[in-house]
Amino acid sequence: MAAMKVGVLGSGDVGQALGRGFASRGHSVMIGSRTPDSGKLKAWARKAGKGASTGSFAEAASHGSVLVLATLGTAAEQVIDLAGSTNFKGKILIDVTNPLDFSKGMPPGLFVGTTDSLGERIQRKLPQARVVKCFNTVGNSQMVGPTYGDVDMMICGNDKAAKREVTKILKEFGWKGAIDIGGIEGARWLEALVPLWVRVGIALDNWNNVFKVLHE
Ligand SMILES: NC(=O)c1ccc[n+]([C@@H]2O[C@H](COP(=O)([O-])OP(=O)(O)OC[C@H]3O[C@@H](n4cnc5c(N)ncnc54)[C@H](OP(=O)(O)O)[C@@H]3O)[C@@H](O)[C@H]2O)c1
Repeated sequence: MAAMKVGVLGSGDVGQALGRGFASRGHSVMIGSRTPDSGKLKAWARKAGKGASTGSFAEAASHGSVLVLATLGTAAEQVIDLAGSTNFKGKILIDVTNPLDFSKGMPPGLFVGTTDSLGERIQRKLPQARVVKCFNTVGNSQMVGPTYGDVDMMICGNDKAAKREVTKILKEFGWKGAIDIGGIEGARWLEALVPLWVRVGIALDNWNNVFKVLHE
């Protein structure tokens, strides 16, 4: 793909893995955080190499022509406020968040689901952003250069052109492609897969597992 400017909102394992993936493929990446000067993020930028930097949520959102939302589910809307809604206008927003509810401990439930989703909440909050739910159903270790390269990622979103661009990114990251399950309301079901994924991980005692759809 042609080099892009990418803003990754979120500095946890997901933000770092995807940020590393974009940087290693020649894109200019800024990770956004409340503490962009922390040792952890400076070390990430050093290791990720040329084109990798850190900034505030607003600086990262302004930097990217493509944005990734990879924050704690309960903080997603707060981080959008910190990033500034005008910074999302017209941009692809890859939403990796999950509305996991750990209030009753492990394994988690969901704090929104079946009749609404975090993906829909984010799209409603940012009507001019082109939200694509993607990567939320797999562990961060599998997001870039997945072990099982013949697997399609399940994605959804309202903007078909945005989903085509995200599919190109998936292929660049080593995925076979995407199964597009439809509009952003599909996030209800992509997010609902995650409490199942956690239970499978516990049962197998292995977090490098992915769901694969078998079909003719
Ligand atoms: N971990 C995985 O393998 C995985 C896989 C698929 C999907 N997901 C989903 O991806 C998202 C990110 O997961 P993660 O494990 O990388 O990290 P995480 O611990 O869920 O989130 C870390 C990020 O959330 C931000 N954050 C937390 N509380 C905040 C608050 N009160 N206000 C503003 N920002 C706040 C942190 O900001 P600071 O940078 O300022 O600390 C940090 O950038 C989650 O929604 C998760 O469910 C995770």
